[in-house]
This record gives sequence, structure tokens and C-alpha cells, in this order.
Amino acid sequence: MKILNFGSCNVDHVYSMDHIVAPGETQTTYKLEIFPGGKGLNQSIAAARAGAAVYHAGCIGKGGEMLEKILSENGVDLSNVRHVDEQNGHAIIQVGSDGENSIFLYPGSNEMITEEHINSALEGFGKGDLLILQNEINNLETIVEKAYEKGISILLNPAPFNEKIKALKLSHLTYIILNETEAKGLTGTDEPEKCLDYFETEYPELRVMLTLGEKGSVYMENGKKTYREAFKVKAVDTTAAGDTFTGYFAAGLSEGLDTEEILKRATAASAITVSRMGAAPSVPTAKEVDCFLQNI
Ligand code: RIB
Repeated sequence: MKILNFGSCNVDHVYSMDHIVAPGETQTTYKLEIFPGGKGLNQSIAAARAGAAVYHAGCIGKGGEMLEKILSENGVDLSNVRHVDEQNGHAIIQVGSDGENSIFLYPGSNEMITEEHINSALEGFGKGDLLILQNEINNLETIVEKAYEKGISILLNPAPFNEKIKALKLSHLTYIILNETEAKGLTGTDEPEKCLDYFETEYPELRVMLTLGEKGSVYMENGKKTYREAFKVKAVDTTAAGDTFTGYFAAGLSEGLDTEEILKRATAASAITVSRMGAAPSVPTAKEVDCFLQNI
């Protein structure tokens, strides 16, 4: 199984501060750090560090050199990454002293994906391969349609959640990985069991991976649920925790691991990410995950 990730690449401007600013408040921050990020890039790095063969497709714009560098240093194939004459997508991230974050995004280059780019990127993929998608790029609907026609399995992480997600044909997906906020947007409830009931009724074939933060996660396939507890770690920065989970989940599928093992490794990997600053640089390697699991 080859993994193609059609996704965003952002330059993250991360501000450490006492707490996330309230409307009307002005706050002086402690520190500014600039990291490679973007949900797509973070997920590709995570899947690659987990040991999978990853192909990234997307657009890099002006100022995005560090993004290409980190993808290639991690062995991600970049033949479907294009350069565009547009400001690279970037994120402004506030990280409070409790590790919680708040993000706003400028999509820039991430919204320059054309139909021709989609056709060309999907060319080398078919049945048995896995396409990862998130919601930080344009033309998502077209990508889903075309990948589905080719029989590619599609794994969607509907983040950030907005109206664009509601327009997608969820019946074309094989997997959906979502948190409680995204679950509420799609199903109308953030109560895990009710949310799973919704998917079981409306999309019985869809495999649902619901992440619940400190409460762990639950995976449902053909009505069978597998629960996983979270590992307790001190949160330094929660940025990219979900992306790490998604990347490790996809890598576990590509390796043919069983569900319990996939959930254990993805949960451990995202716990490590939470204990470090930044997005992509905080994603652990498979070796670090092994070590964490041995010592826990
Ligand atoms: O999920 C974390 C990512 O969301 C950050 O890296 C930022 O770029 C935003 O896209």
C-alpha cells in the first residue's frame, strides 16, 4: 500500500505566552519560533517517521523553502509538489502556558491546486493505495471524486471543520479520523457513542476513528468498536498531536498492523508530540515510539 497525502504545507509562527488572548485583550508574548507545519505536511512527516513510503502532493509558495527541506529530509517523495507564485500558506499559533493552542491560518499557496495537478498526482495510484486528505487545500471535492473513481482508499481528517466538509460525499471515504469538535460539526453531537451511532446508521461501511484527547480514542469498523486509553504526559504544545495520530494510523494500515497495535502506536506518537514544542519537528520517529512504549 502506497500512501499519497494531498495536503497543506504551512510555515507556523508560534508565540509562547501566558494564555490565549481574549477578544479585545493585548498581550506581550515570551517567545516567537518559526516551524514547518500544516496539517498535510505534519501528517506526511508522521507517516514517514513511522516507517511508511509517503508521497506528498500539494503546492509550495514564496517563503516555503523550509517545508520542502523537511519533507525531503524525511524521505517523502516530492514529485507531486509544485511551486507556485503565491505567498506560502502560514499559521499564527498562540501557545498558552498550559500547552493549549489557538490557530489562525492564511491558506495562500495551499489553495492553488488545479484539476490538472490532481489528475497528474493521482496517476500513479490505484486500488490498494491510500489517499490522506485534510481541509486546508482547495478542490477537495474534486480530489475525492477522482480518487474514488480510481478505487483508491480515502482517509479524511475533516480538519479544520467548516462548510466545505459538509459538501463532501462521505460515502466515498474508507476512513474518517476526527475529534469531538469535528464530530459535532458532522453529526450534531460530541457525545462519542451518539456520534458513532450516527455513522453506523448513515455510513455503515465507513471506518471511523474518533479521537477524544485525554480520554483516548475509539475506532469503529463494521459496528465493532475498539477503545484505547490515552497516555498521560505533561502537555507543552498540543499542535500537530492530531496530525501525528493520523500519520501513524495511516502508516499502521500500510504495514498491515492489527487495530490494537495501530491505536497503541498512534496514541504513543501523539503523546510524544504533545510533550514537545512545534508542529512537524515535534513528531517522533518509530524508534522514539518504541522507546516510549518500553518505558511507560
Ligand atoms: O494541526 C496543526 C497545524 O494546523 C499547524 O501546523 C498549522 O499549520 C495548522 O495548519
